[in-house]
Amino acid sequence: MNKWAVLAALVMVLLLSYGADSSPADVQRHDAFVPGIYDLPKAVGGKVTGGPFSLTDHLGRPASDTDFRGQFMLIYFGYMSCPDVCPKGLQVVTEAMDVLGPAAGRVQPLFITFDPDRDTVALLADFVDNFHPRLLGLTGTKEQTLAAANSYDVDVSATYAAGNNLDYSMNHSAFTYLSGPDGKLRMMFRDGIDGKTMASFIVNVMNKETR
Ligand code: NI
Repeated sequence: MNKWAVLAALVMVLLLSYGADSSPADVQRHDAFVPGIYDLPKAVGGKVTGGPFSLTDHLGRPASDTDFRGQFMLIYFGYMSCPDVCPKGLQVVTEAMDVLGPAAGRVQPLFITFDPDRDTVALLADFVDNFHPRLLGLTGTKEQTLAAANSYDVDVSATYAAGNNLDYSMNHSAFTYLSGPDGKLRMMFRDGIDGKTMASFIVNVMNKETR
């Protein structure tokens, strides 16, 4: 390689690391999934803490964060019309629950929509059927779902198609959040993690809690 090729390679590396939060290259780097890096609040400078939410589950029952005290919450924020990322993320949550075996009894998996205009209680009930049997789908008013997403610092923006205000796609961050029995955030998992790895981190967190 001549020096220009080396320079070009360096620029590529810089560009790739600049988009670190969402680039697949970063997601696949399993050495990044080291406990400590993902333990919070270190991972995001204390910005994400988790927090209260007050929503309605897919059976129409009220559901707030305090209902799940004493359990770990494994939370995925997303929207049902998502073509790829959200279904895949929920598949990983389902796999992690399966891998956990009996320990999964201490974990409540939650799908919280940030698209309540389209993701109604009735539609959510059908949707969650595709994933783990204990997955609860949560929706609410726009204010309620926004407050929930904000408490986990979820990044969302909608892109509207011309002429139809229910035809839009949403860009969003795609972390899975693990909160402890006190409702406070323990760990965030990047998009791209597999269920087995996620389960092993959940077990690590559980072991620390009971020590
Ligand atoms: Ni999505």
